[in-house]
Amino acid sequence: MQYGGDYNPEQWSEETWVEDARLMREAGVTLVTVNVFSWSVIQPAEGVFEWEWLDRVLENMHANGIDVDLATGTASPPPWLTEQYPGVLPQDENGVNLWPGSRQHYSPTSPDYRRLAATLVSALVERYARHPAVSMWHVNNELGCHVAYDYSDNARAAFAEWLEQKYTTIKALNTAWNTAFWSQRYTSFAQIIPPRKTPSFPNPGLVLDFKRFSSDALLDLFVMERDIVRASGATQPITTNLMGAFPGADYWSWAEEMDVVSNDAYPDPNDPEAFRSMAFSSDVMRGLKPDRPWLLMEQATNAVQWRPTNARKQPGVMSAWSMQSVSRGADGILFFQWRQSRAGAEKFHSAMLPHSGEKSRVFREISALGADLKVLPQMGTGSRARVGIVFDWDCLWAVEGPAMPVTLDYHAIVQRWHAALHRQHIGVDIVSARSDLSSYALVIAPLLYLVTDESAANLSNYVENGGHLLVSAFTDVVDETNTFRAGGYLQALGAVFGVAVEEYDALVLPGTGGPGYREASFTVDGTSIRGEYMVDELHPETAEVVAVFSDGPIKGSPALTANGFGSGVGYYIATIPDDAGMTSILAWAAERAGVGPELTGLPEVVEVSRRDEHLLLINHGSEAVSLIIPADASEAGKKEERLELSFQGWTWLHRP
Ligand code: GLA
Repeated sequence: MQYGGDYNPEQWSEETWVEDARLMREAGVTLVTVNVFSWSVIQPAEGVFEWEWLDRVLENMHANGIDVDLATGTASPPPWLTEQYPGVLPQDENGVNLWPGSRQHYSPTSPDYRRLAATLVSALVERYARHPAVSMWHVNNELGCHVAYDYSDNARAAFAEWLEQKYTTIKALNTAWNTAFWSQRYTSFAQIIPPRKTPSFPNPGLVLDFKRFSSDALLDLFVMERDIVRASGATQPITTNLMGAFPGADYWSWAEEMDVVSNDAYPDPNDPEAFRSMAFSSDVMRGLKPDRPWLLMEQATNAVQWRPTNARKQPGVMSAWSMQSVSRGADGILFFQWRQSRAGAEKFHSAMLPHSGEKSRVFREISALGADLKVLPQMGTGSRARVGIVFDWDCLWAVEGPAMPVTLDYHAIVQRWHAALHRQHIGVDIVSARSDLSSYALVIAPLLYLVTDESAANLSNYVENGGHLLVSAFTDVVDETNTFRAGGYLQALGAVFGVAVEEYDALVLPGTGGPGYREASFTVDGTSIRGEYMVDELHPETAEVVAVFSDGPIKGSPALTANGFGSGVGYYIATIPDDAGMTSILAWAAERAGVGPELTGLPEVVEVSRRDEHLLLINHGSEAVSLIIPADASEAGKKEERLELSFQGWTWLHRP
């Protein structure tokens, strides 16, 4: 179990480094990430490297028994670089430069940026590949965080090349994007421009491919650096810090290229449900490389500085959320950053060692957590859950594309389905529509708007072989090119659900005004469920109608259907339920699939998560709770036990 954080000693005198090492040892720190933003310190000019400073940092850590996750340092190009090569700057959709003065001001496809970054990484690994302090490599930092989409001429050239590789002929691209419409037919790849600001809606096919390209362009940077590190003979694992279900990059393809998945997670402590977003983010990480541990590379010890309101973490919250990550598969808990900055953009951002020093609440909590992590029970990498939720970046990009029937936030809606299981203490894995789903009793594929032939075959196969697949409105609408399949909607998965979709209708968006229907209700097992955002007009073919809409624009039409397909069942919900509705439908579907909670009778604010034979219970509520926990079935004669959990209190139970 690793423990530590980003260490940016370039901000401090070397006397302070001595104190840093002493306090790190006191807090139980085992691993620090160094050199993330040190490019201007180690390379003052092109062709000039000054390593002595970094040598001493690594020596200091090594002498104190602390390992280093050595960053390649490419995340923030120094001022001399952008002065000499202004063409590395990225551009926004108006074609305006994003200027130096903060960080991440590079175009991922700029040949100059790539060359200079590659030179830096080569020099770095040549010097440190075999350094005994270095236990891991950290490529760049949060790739795409500030600039997920670059619209510069670098991007234009690289996008044209990417498209040519994908489509081979311009004719194939014209067909895929239906450029016959609005006079958009291209006669060469060179004519294609990234989706910069246009008078009206840009072509949705172009927008979708641009998002795929942008994810690939960032990944290509990771791969370039990773290959340089590897080619140097370095044997340590190589990672880069991901950002949960970050909308700008298809992490399914990224994870394949990474040795270890690592995550940065900053849920808002002001949000009473933040612990559920944290759980979602962790489950995404575990899903990316199933059966392998991941690292929580960054989180805040207390407040951040980048929201309009930056609440602190109440006492206990930092520890509870950290332990939650361990229970969801993390083998390391790290923070941004070790020592709080005295100036600069993050001077109000919390750290492991705050301005108030070692006598502070935060440092006491940090030291206590370091001690708790040392005495954790021995745990494996975690077993698979019985329920899976599909997260699909192609769907996210397509569903949030231009000119749609209704505005939908894919990430938020998938996360709400996850929360609905979390509230019921049912464990869940995040999966891809292409994953092997055979171990899951129930799979939920929310807003599966875009379905490739491959995903459709995988999902059909899953149901045919006994799986229960639950989908909601707006499923299987377009193919991989964002085009309706011949015949209309639900053409790839129609047989699985045994219904036909005739029309979609948009409801007034939750939280907004205006005439029109705001909701469409239906009842399942005596519980009334409210649908929002949209309704699908379904016609049952082989499916059984479980519930019909009792109001809304298509009153009387099927709201929930169930269809036996092979030895499994396909469920179609013809709307997007509200939170309570998602919870009720999942309770109903889980029961039909034979899935139950990890423990029964727990309040919603008490979380339970399983890692192999260990269950973690956390009380996220604002008051202490007293729980009755069933006995461990493996220990004969033992009775149920009473468990008191204070606010943010947590405890591990052995439950094979
Ligand atoms: C990100 C970055 C860090 C820091 C934190 C602040 O995670 O990687 O460098 O800026 O945000 O929350």
